[in-house]
Amino acid sequence: MKKFPEQFWWGSATSGPQAEGRFNKPHANVFDHWYDIEPEKFYNQVGPNTASNFYNSYKEDIQLMKEAGLNSLRISIQWTRLIDDFETASLNEDGVQFYHNVIDTLLEAGIEPFVGLHHFDLPVELYHQYGGWESKKVVDLFVKFTQQCFALYGDKVRYWFVFNEPMVVVDGQYLYQFHYPNIRNGKKAVQVAYNIVLATAKTIEAFRSGGWDRDGQQIGTILNLTPSYPASDRAEDLKASRIADLWKNQLFLDPAVLGEFPSELVELLTADGVLWESTEEEKILIKQNTIDLLGVNFYHPSRAKEPSIIPSSASDWMPNQYFDDYEMPRRRMNVDKGWEIYPQALYDISLNIRDNYGNIPWFVSENGMGVSQEERFMNAEGQIDDFYRIDFIKEHLEWLHKGIEAGSDCRGYHLWTAIDNWSWTNAYRNRYGLVSNDIRTQVKTLKKSGYWFKQVSENNGFSD
Ligand code: BG6
Repeated sequence: MKKFPEQFWWGSATSGPQAEGRFNKPHANVFDHWYDIEPEKFYNQVGPNTASNFYNSYKEDIQLMKEAGLNSLRISIQWTRLIDDFETASLNEDGVQFYHNVIDTLLEAGIEPFVGLHHFDLPVELYHQYGGWESKKVVDLFVKFTQQCFALYGDKVRYWFVFNEPMVVVDGQYLYQFHYPNIRNGKKAVQVAYNIVLATAKTIEAFRSGGWDRDGQQIGTILNLTPSYPASDRAEDLKASRIADLWKNQLFLDPAVLGEFPSELVELLTADGVLWESTEEEKILIKQNTIDLLGVNFYHPSRAKEPSIIPSSASDWMPNQYFDDYEMPRRRMNVDKGWEIYPQALYDISLNIRDNYGNIPWFVSENGMGVSQEERFMNAEGQIDDFYRIDFIKEHLEWLHKGIEAGSDCRGYHLWTAIDNWSWTNAYRNRYGLVSNDIRTQVKTLKKSGYWFKQVSENNGFSD
């Protein structure tokens, strides 16, 4: 039997924009807006309007989550639902009440609410008016919004998370064009990364100076870590992998946990003429406001080889001028999602956190397997027999268990996700849930993995 530490968090993650639907929301975020103007960019033209209807069905959904054995759930508060006026951070009462209801229902069900404050859902008005995360004005408006969240829910919520996957914001909006506004501008991408780090530190500062940590409440952030492995031992590949790691992982991990950016990366960006604009005062703020708890989203590793792109000037700068993705022969793939499956990376992440990040408490805040057309696995009883998801989770937990045995301070495992939900431009193509959702009828049914997960949670582990 593989037993996990006592009080291990067995749970899942979701997000406001992917679950709630746009019902009664006073503002549009960047995805809402993008869908309004270019619905054809979304799989089957399905947008975020209904999502998984959590706004209307949160009570029933939370009941299903309980049936799947969750003892904790990460939700996110949407800036565009809670706030009426972004400049003053005045409140939208319907939004205020909705999040009270959700948090109360979770607590009544014995599910610990973990609350995120930004899950790719920048208000589009703030992009059009100020350039979104390009602007430090937006950083300050965001902090005002987070202070409202702490004041409203701080007595009930023990675990707060400032950002979800900031690297995806940088990549999607400013480099590889998969989030509105789909820009390609390396210099802006670097400034946005910096401003998000600054916003994280300022929010943590506001949390602590406001006394919201008074009863042991903790604040952290959620990073998608993708350990980088070189294609070979050749110096060129080793260098490519090192820089990929600096950019993809350390850019956010180092300031969050250690309070400073990796000097190697700062030197590289300086030499290339694309370093962010910052002040000495901000540097001190970042140093002094590091996280209590780290959330790690792990889906796939990254493999790097010597790059092929040679930029002609600083204005063409892109991080991948330093590394190319390497497709290792015979690697295991999740064909639907196009991602490599490499559970051992969770062990490598565990040791990296133990050895290089002061063994900070952390948890797997997302891990999961997206599969299309899951109806093909429906059995005679009408249940989806997702044996592949059970195997996937089990293998990841085995490697995580080894990491914990080696002394890494991992406190939990959250699957992406409890109930099949809407997923950005992929909409409902790939399903991740322990519970299926028929998007035409919104009928939700536990999959085989839901029953299995409940046993794991109740036993605090599983047999080999
Ligand atoms: C993470 C995000 O990147 O991966 C989630 O935090 C997202 O919001 C999940 O849904 C799965 O990715 P995708 O693109 O398959 O939905």
